[in-house]
Amino acid sequence: MLRRWMLAGAGAGLAAASAALSLPRAEPAKKTYLVTGCSAGLGLELVRQLAARGDRVYATCRTPAASASGVDELSQVAGDVVLVQGVDVTSDSVGETLKAALAGVKLDCIVHNAGGFAASRAEQKLDTICMDAMRRGFELNTLSVLRVTQALLPQLSAPGGKLVVISSMIGSIADNSSGGMYAYRTSKAAVNMVSKSLANDLKPQGIAVVAISPGFVATHFGGMSPEQKMKVGAKPVTPSVRGIVEAIDALELSNTGSFVHTNYGDGLQPAPCPARRGSRLRALVSQRECITIHLGQAGVQTGNACWELFCLEHGIQPDGQMPSDKTIGGGDDAFNTFFSETGSGKHVPRTVFIDLEPTVRTGTYRQLYHPEQLISGKEDAANNYARGHYTVGKEIVDLVLDRIRKLADNCTGLQGFFAFNAIGGGTGSGLGALLLDYLPCPLPLGWEGVSLPGNNTLAGKLHLASCLDGVPRHRD
Ligand SMILES: NC(=O)c1ccc[n+]([C@@H]2O[C@H](COP(=O)([O-])OP(=O)(O)OC[C@H]3O[C@@H](n4cnc5c(N)ncnc54)[C@H](OP(=O)(O)O)[C@@H]3O)[C@@H](O)[C@H]2O)c1
Repeated sequence: MLRRWMLAGAGAGLAAASAALSLPRAEPAKKTYLVTGCSAGLGLELVRQLAARGDRVYATCRTPAASASGVDELSQVAGDVVLVQGVDVTSDSVGETLKAALAGVKLDCIVHNAGGFAASRAEQKLDTICMDAMRRGFELNTLSVLRVTQALLPQLSAPGGKLVVISSMIGSIADNSSGGMYAYRTSKAAVNMVSKSLANDLKPQGIAVVAISPGFVATHFGGMSPEQKMKVGAKPVTPSVRGIVEAIDALELSNTGSFVHTNYGDGLQPAPCPARRGSRLRALVSQRECITIHLGQAGVQTGNACWELFCLEHGIQPDGQMPSDKTIGGGDDAFNTFFSETGSGKHVPRTVFIDLEPTVRTGTYRQLYHPEQLISGKEDAANNYARGHYTVGKEIVDLVLDRIRKLADNCTGLQGFFAFNAIGGGTGSGLGALLLDYLPCPLPLGWEGVSLPGNNTLAGKLHLASCLDGVPRHRD
C-alpha cells in the first residue's frame, strides 16, 4: 500500500507528492477520514488509531517542512495514511489548499481537531486579555471549522457523512464556574454553536455532526508538559483518543447536534482533579438528565410528595445539602439525572412547579428549589380546560417554557420530561395540553395522569391523543 505525501502549500502547485514508500497493511481501508492538526497530541493519536483499524486517513499538519518533529512521528504511523502538509486552518486560503490537495477524494468523516489556547492562561484574564488574542482564538478554534467544512462539504458523503468538532468542556456555558480564559472559552463556545447549526443545516442531507469534549488530556496543549498534566489529573492520550473514536462511531443522525464528553477510557476511573475541581467527568452517554414538570394542584401535590421521597432516598436534606456527596459540582452519580448540583454543593431538583393560582405550595422542602422554578399565575383556571388552555394558561406559557428551556440548557444530554398533572381540572389539562404543543421533544412522548369524568377530561384526552405516542390508561 502506498504511503502518499502531499505538500499543500499556498502557491506551490498545492498538491505535490513529495515522497512515497511502501508499507504493509492488514486490511483494506474501511472509511476515509480527514483529520486536521495531526503533528501532535490528540490528532497524531487519532491518525494512529484510525489507521490501525484499517481506515484511510488524510492527516493534515501546518508545517510545510517534511522533517519537522511532528511530521517525523506522523510519517512513522503504520497504515493507509496520506499526509497533507502546509494546512494552516487559520488561513483564508486553506479551503483552496485542501480542495486542490484532495481533488477527487470522497470523505466519510472530517475531524476538526486543530486548535489551541491562542494565548497563555495568564494572558486571558479579564485584565490581561487583548483583542488580538480573542481574534486568534476565533480564527483557530471557530472560523477554522467553517472554512474547512465549506471547502470540503461537496466531497463529504451524503447521506452517511460525519463532521466531528473537537471542542472542550471549557466552551460549555453551563460548566463555566471559574471565569477567565476568554479567548479559548469563547471560541470553543462559539464552535459548539457552529456545530449545532451545521447539524441542523446538514441533517436533511443525511450528514451527522457532533462536538466532542475530550476531557483533560496529557498532551502539550495549554502550556504544561504532559508529565506536569498527569500530576494534576490529566488522562493519558491513548485511552482518551479511544473515547473520541467511540464517540465518532456512535455518531448518527438520531444524535446529531450533540455535545459529548468522552470518558477516561479503558479501565480508568474518573479521579479527583485538583486543577479542575468541580469539572464534570461524564461518560459517553448522550442522554442522561430528566426534567419533571408538576402542573396544577394535583401535579404540585404529587411533586411535593415525590421530591420529598427522592431527597430521603438520596440522603439530601431539605436545604439541598447532601453530606454523603464529596464531589462538589458534578460527578456522574445517578442522582444527577434528577438533581443538578451547584458550586456550593446544593442539590437542586431539575423540575418546575406550575400552578395558575397565586401561590405554589411546596411544603417543608420549599428552600430546595430556586424561586424561578416555582411558577404561579394571578388567577386560577377554575377547573376549566378552556381557561387553562386559551386564556389564563396562555398568558403564562411563555414564562413556563422559558424556565423549562433554562433547565434544559443546564443538561448535557436531556433524556426527556416527566409531567405530573391531572386532566380532569383546568390547569393540568388545559395548560398541560398547551405545553405539549410547544415542548420541542424529538423523543417518544407518553403522558400519565389522573383522569376524572367530564368535559375537561374529554378535551384533555383528545389533545393528548393528537400529540402523544401513548397514553396509559389507569382506573381512577
Ligand atoms: N489536551 C486537552 O486537554 C484538550 C482538552 C479539551 C480540548 N482539546 C482540544 O483538542 C484539540 C487537540 O488538542 P491537543 O491536546 O492535541 O493539542 P496539541 O498537542 O497542542 O495539538 C494541537 C494540534 O493543532 C495543530 N494546530 C495548531 N494551530 C494550527 C493551525 N493554525 N493550523 C493547523 N493546525 C494547527 C498543531 O499543529 P502545530 O504542530 O503546527 O502547532 C497540533 O497538531 C484542540 O482543538 C484542543 O482545543 C484538548
